[in-house]
Amino acid sequence: MSVLDWAGKLSTEFGIYDVELTAEFWEKHARKVRRKLARDKCPRESFGSFELLKFLSSGSFGSVFKVRMKRNRKVFAMKVQPKRLIVRKEAQKYAIQEKRIFAAVDFEFIVKLFYAFKDNANLFLVMELFENGDLSLLLKHEKKLTEWRAKLYAGQLVLVIEYLHRARIVFRDLKPPNILIADDGYLKLTDFGLATVFHGSTYTLCGSPPYMAPEILRRQQYGPGVDWWALGIIVYEMLHGQLPFRCPGNEGTVLERLILTAPLEFRGGLDRTAEDFISKLLEREDSRRLGSLHRGADDVLDHEWLWEVDFDLLYAKKYQIPVSKRLRYLQERGHYEAIHFDPKDYFPHEFQDF
Ligand SMILES: Nc1ncnc2c1ncn2[C@@H]1O[C@H](COP(=O)(O)OP(=O)(O)OP(=O)(O)O)[C@@H](O)[C@H]1O
Ligand SMILES: [Mg+2]
Repeated sequence: MSVLDWAGKLSTEFGIYDVELTAEFWEKHARKVRRKLARDKCPRESFGSFELLKFLSSGSFGSVFKVRMKRNRKVFAMKVQPKRLIVRKEAQKYAIQEKRIFAAVDFEFIVKLFYAFKDNANLFLVMELFENGDLSLLLKHEKKLTEWRAKLYAGQLVLVIEYLHRARIVFRDLKPPNILIADDGYLKLTDFGLATVFHGSTYTLCGSPPYMAPEILRRQQYGPGVDWWALGIIVYEMLHGQLPFRCPGNEGTVLERLILTAPLEFRGGLDRTAEDFISKLLEREDSRRLGSLHRGADDVLDHEWLWEVDFDLLYAKKYQIPVSKRLRYLQERGHYEAIHFDPKDYFPHEFQDF
């Protein structure tokens, strides 16, 4: 054992192993992601290796189940996406990108993907399981969060966004249902269904309407700034218990107009620095938005609202964050589609790269 190995072991065992979030730290992570993106590899398995335990939740592309691997009895979350549904929504490209990007990332506050495989009818992603529900469920039950808790959550999201952007990944779907809560109270980002590797800028109209940035709605070219906008919406939501721009049923054109033109209103009781933080993230002009300026994420990390948060300690998970195990029993699971199997592959070309 080398001296370095030994020192690393000792410090981890005594719980004093701290990482400093330096430029080298980020660059090392980014290089690793870029290498993995280029390799595009993820271990395969087959559906028969798992036992279905229960349905957990569903999204617009698939259902998520709790499963157990037969050979070692380990439990996982399995997202099942029917090929037919993906083709109907013309989302093949997204499903393939999701697998490639999800397999390439590896960060403290991101769900880990273990296996990706397909059969005639479905695409399967097998990932780490988190059963305490997601941030939308938490907000539904707690209405709003204390500023301190919101700061700890926002801080983790800033680190995740910084991690992804350094690796040239735009997430594009930052919203509470995609943010899971682990047993230690820390966050885990899931759902890379809209994530993309950016080269310059992009145009694709996508996202979840209440969290979509103005430049997406204006059908303009856009870039990573859309994730900072979504963070602003989430921080507002955590502190107020409701969205800044909302209308009954979140009706498309009305909501779009609100996001593009309505004044941002605060409901009182908020710290001045919190209002400033949110207003600067919800800047409609991307080039003037916090996070999109020349210092990038550093401006967000250094904002006065987050001064109390020590990011090295947050990354090392040294803060205590309450977690309600009760939430897992309150989840409305909705309906789910039974998993179908086809005797023949009707889409032999569409998912070759998955
Ligand atoms: N690893 C996991 N452990 C537990 N639950 C999970 C996990 N991953 C996802 N979920 C739950 O399943 C839901 C749907 O998963 P996901 O967001 O990946 O699907 P989707 O179809 O892409 O969703 P969307 O409607 O956002 O497009 C999530 O909102 C979350 O509540
Ligand atoms: Mg989702």
